[in-house]
Amino acid sequence: MSVWAVLAAAGRGERLGSDRPKAFARLGGRPLLAESLERLEDSEWIDGIVVAAPPEWEEPSILVAEEIGAGKVRACITGGASRSESVRLALAEVPEDAAATLVHDAARPLLAEEVIERVLAPLGEGWDGVVPGLPLSDTVKRVEGEQVVETLPRGRLVAVQTPQAFVTDALRQALSGDVSDATDCASLVEARGGRVKVVHGDPRLLKVTDANDLALVESWLGADGSP
Ligand code: CTP
Ligand code: MG
Repeated sequence: MSVWAVLAAAGRGERLGSDRPKAFARLGGRPLLAESLERLEDSEWIDGIVVAAPPEWEEPSILVAEEIGAGKVRACITGGASRSESVRLALAEVPEDAAATLVHDAARPLLAEEVIERVLAPLGEGWDGVVPGLPLSDTVKRVEGEQVVETLPRGRLVAVQTPQAFVTDALRQALSGDVSDATDCASLVEARGGRVKVVHGDPRLLKVTDANDLALVESWLGADGSP
């Protein structure tokens, strides 16, 4: 089975508030993008990679790939207005014979090989998609304005991360409609009746959103079993 990866790196990183897109914020002395890209390159499961780069940052993205010797990068496209648009544009570069596609956020640099393995394995058991999820420690409430309207049963909720793995055809179909409101790809597959499995996530896959997250991930760098 041929497996390709789409690396969503085209966001602006407004909440990080840097002078450059989040994918080019410094992490361990190099662009944040380099960390997840290198890990995808080194994964024994991944055959090809498509990077969705921020507008006007396509060339620097290709340079990052070259600097780390990421020969699996087959295309680097200009991202779209939303994450889902970026993934859809990148997916157009994934070949027909790629049975499975992994979608990962560049904003989650500490991608472990075990997680890649964990999300890919169930695709062979009839699932359309697989997501890594973590149990919630806080109680979650639904609100309308400032009023609480419902307390949700925490035991039945998970916080979902990336990498998310999909049967490529199911992902293509899911992305072919209106994708504007989606915050992840799995929700689009679910909306079409696709079966999505949740497997155990990884706290180290924290998404870098603000400067505190960046400092935290930086402190974990090199301590997560990677070279
Ligand atoms: N992303 C993307 N294309 C977009 C928007 C987001 O590829 N048009 C990617 C980001 O690069 C990131 C992932 O989707 O790796 C998750 O998005 P998020 O954490 O929201 O990143 P940004 O949109 O860059 O940050 P912000 O929302 O603070 O601007
Ligand atoms: Mg965003």
